[in-house]
Amino acid sequence: MDNFNFYSPTEFVFGKGREHEAGQLVKKYGGTKVLVHFGGGSAVKSGLLDRVKASLEAAELPYVALGGVKPNPRDTLAYEGIELCRREGVDFILCVGGGSVIDSAKAIAAGVPYAGDFWDFYSGKAAIAGALPVGTVLTIAAAGSEGSGDTVVTQEATGLKRGAGSNHLRPRFSIMNPELTMTLPPYQTACGAADIMAHVFERYFTNTPEVEITDRLCEAVLCTMVKETPRVMADPMNYDARANIMWAGTVAHTNIVGVGRSQDWNSHNIEHELSGLYDCAHGAGLAVIMPAWMEFVMPHNPMRFAQMANRVWGCAMNFAHPEETAKAGIRCFRRFLHEIGLPINFAELGAKVEDIPTLVEKLGLGDGKTGGFVQLSSEDVATIYHIAAKAAL
Ligand code: NZQ
Ligand code: ZN
Repeated sequence: MDNFNFYSPTEFVFGKGREHEAGQLVKKYGGTKVLVHFGGGSAVKSGLLDRVKASLEAAELPYVALGGVKPNPRDTLAYEGIELCRREGVDFILCVGGGSVIDSAKAIAAGVPYAGDFWDFYSGKAAIAGALPVGTVLTIAAAGSEGSGDTVVTQEATGLKRGAGSNHLRPRFSIMNPELTMTLPPYQTACGAADIMAHVFERYFTNTPEVEITDRLCEAVLCTMVKETPRVMADPMNYDARANIMWAGTVAHTNIVGVGRSQDWNSHNIEHELSGLYDCAHGAGLAVIMPAWMEFVMPHNPMRFAQMANRVWGCAMNFAHPEETAKAGIRCFRRFLHEIGLPINFAELGAKVEDIPTLVEKLGLGDGKTGGFVQLSSEDVATIYHIAAKAAL
């Protein structure tokens, strides 16, 4: 196991009705003027936004509101949010929504104290040295942004989707009421499940030996998702299944399952080009890319894939030919994604084979290689897109 620091300062406030505590929590973490940030309308329709505002009013906290965050959040709204916060003297951002709202809030939080263009953080020109505090009321189990220091934003003018990260962006608190996820369309629930599993796989496929504890933690999250996702797809009002998935989503991405080991993240980077170009859901893009990436890199360490196949999907271990067990595990994963209603190839996602050169170019590897479980060249990435394009059960 490698040396590591694990820093996860967020207070998670979990369970039914906990959104009523939003005002008190903002106060506890020093907020005196709040930006309430939200998405395209689900939180308005469900009445959640009104409940959160009432909680701020009960705590005698003044606030301004900025809605309209789109899935794959845009830089344009973040610029607007930064101006609004400066003008109004906002000192705390409260997001009500999913990964997109939280990531947009984090962009605003980092941008307010920064003298330059906040996109510098996403283009790698500058590191985040400070940010306004952020709190969240989570409405979808998926991105894990409620516990992460990461943010992913799309530059409207170029379609470039890029990430930035800093411990300054880890939310002070995240309110997690599983009931709030019951209004999700089934497709979004499934996209969230794929993202949660992908966050674990990005950590599971490692070159670091002797990482039994994090292997087992990863497998626990994956087995939970394999069990609970079909339950929630069949019965969207199942509180216990929703609760298990919601906590799995956070555990998958605070990095508690990934410390002390090298990680991959190439599937995420390859996927971000799809959601950047087609504006598809991130989880749907991962459902197409991740099994294709697995097929491409599996020969690097068939035993690691065979272990996943055996422990997560219950495939019988073929010790003479572990690559056969490995392939069976990847097939199980793709079938699972299909059965919960997700696309598994380009046609089902709405992506085009002829766009592959553009996708590869946007990724920007040039003649270089990515890091990760297996280092990938531009040519390798193109091969993975081609495998994904024609994938079948
Ligand atoms: O905008 P509204 O009307 O709220 O609708 C949203 C949106 O259309 C809807 N929704 C959310 N909660 C709902 C609901 N509809 C009904 N009832 C509810 N309770 O669901 C749609 C998707 O929401 P979004 O926030 O986009 O989903 P998600 O949480 O999957 O976030 C995706 C974004 O997070 C990024 C992705 O790249 C993508 O841009 N990621 C962020 C990460 C991070 N910050 O750590 C890591 C991830 O790997 C990921 O890259
Ligand atoms: Zn993700």
